[in-house]
Amino acid sequence: DHASVVTHALAQHVLTDLRSVETSQVEFRKGLVKLGRLCGYELIDSRFPTETGTVETPLAETPATRVSGLEDVVIVNVLRAATPFVEGLLKAFPTARQGVISASRDEDAGMGEDGEFPISVQYVKLPDIDEDDTVIIADPMLATGSTMVTVLDEILADGTPESCFVLSAVSAPPGLERITEAFPEVEHVTVSIDEKLDDDGFIVPGLGDAGDRAFR
Ligand code: PRP
Repeated sequence: DHASVVTHALAQHVLTDLRSVETSQVEFRKGLVKLGRLCGYELIDSRFPTETGTVETPLAETPATRVSGLEDVVIVNVLRAATPFVEGLLKAFPTARQGVISASRDEDAGMGEDGEFPISVQYVKLPDIDEDDTVIIADPMLATGSTMVTVLDEILADGTPESCFVLSAVSAPPGLERITEAFPEVEHVTVSIDEKLDDDGFIVPGLGDAGDRAFR
């Protein structure tokens, strides 16, 4: 199984605030930042190895734990909804190199018969990605997966990282299936796998349109 859920109680609590229709634009944006930080900590705890060495305190030398691999992290921001989410992630991975991709669903065209959206890519700027890197692609919502498949095509076209994670706040089964099928090597980490998509391709129950709620 390529999807795992962040069950941390505080992450679930913050997601509940994000879902609420009562949550204001400012609180929504702050919630995405918080959730990004919590998800970053979870990724470190569950996916990054630790090594034991020593540290010199002012009084003595003592055995000490460090996380390995933090210097080889690339975070990709899928504009625009991921921006506050990435801001939070960077608190967990302050030395990460960053990529930016602008990919968005053509909402006017609508969801096709095949359950996919046409995606327009306007801007792609990625750091060099090599085999030591852990790539984390952040996008608060994975709905049909059309955006993420396009983004993964761009990212994995000219680099094979050690590992690649797609990180979302909410995801829906069709999107999870689509990226698992197209990119079996990619692992999906999400705070919730929601029930379904509606006829317009929106995640139900979801949290609405994350980009609009954070930026409008
Ligand atoms: C939303 C969301 C994802 C995408 C998910 O972005 O942030 O990028 O839709 O849908 P999909 O899995 O069906 O592709 P949107 O296109 O609304 O752009 P925005 O972030 O600028 O609001």
